[in-house]
Amino acid sequence: MEKREQLYAGKAKSIFGTDDPDHVIMLFRNDTSAFDGKRVEQLDRKGMVNNKFNAFIMTKLQEAGIPTHFVKQLSDTESLVKTMKMIPVECVVRNLAAGSLVRRLGVQEGLELNPPTFELFLKNDALGDPMVNEYHVQSFGWATAEQLARMKELTFKINAVLKDLFAAGNMLLVDFKVEFGIHKGEVILGDEFSPDGCRLWDKDTREKLDKDRFRQNLGNVVESYELVGQRLGLTF
Ligand code: TMP
Ligand code: ASP
Repeated sequence: MEKREQLYAGKAKSIFGTDDPDHVIMLFRNDTSAFDGKRVEQLDRKGMVNNKFNAFIMTKLQEAGIPTHFVKQLSDTESLVKTMKMIPVECVVRNLAAGSLVRRLGVQEGLELNPPTFELFLKNDALGDPMVNEYHVQSFGWATAEQLARMKELTFKINAVLKDLFAAGNMLLVDFKVEFGIHKGEVILGDEFSPDGCRLWDKDTREKLDKDRFRQNLGNVVESYELVGQRLGLTF
């Protein structure tokens, strides 16, 4: 597999072409962004930690029957993934109230949500990733009704698999964001799953172990990501 020119650079990852049109290389950088890119900092080792974490989670999801773009880890900071057309919508499931839900609805952080909620956000930093509904997704042509139904089904399945996985490491999966794309006509999971895109709390102390440490200036950001991985049996 030959690495070719950079095709795209997001806030934390870059995509490179390869000699195979069906595959691209995803590079995890140390850049850490919050508040729709308004704050960006370099955190030493984060690219490596998130690449390894993502490889582990994507493999677990694939084993559970969830189709993903992940093929294999190539180096400390790079993974090979399938080429796909991204659907510009973020799918969020929340098991406990936190973040923007607390701000929007004035509920207590940590409130248990039963059943878990499902929310959609348009990927658009300039607009601050506004929340959208299922009609917006279809009316603007971001996804068809069938694709949307599949995204929702897969997002809840991911929640079921990962809630148990993190529970085994004595952690609560508070909420998470996933993104999907179309590969050969099929909806598959894209982007990444790492502590950058979810909330994880220690089950006993409710200590935050995810990107809220960066957003809220709590310190030990990458150390906490590594701790999460170690609790799942990963070594970095
Ligand atoms: P929120 O509480 O800010 O709406 O975020 C919900 C979850 O989704 C949280 O785990 C962070 C994640 N998320 C992202 O990773 N990127 C985003 O752009 C957004 C809006 C949320
Ligand atoms: N990932 C988004 C950003 O870069 C949202 C966030 O994590 O706060 O701003």
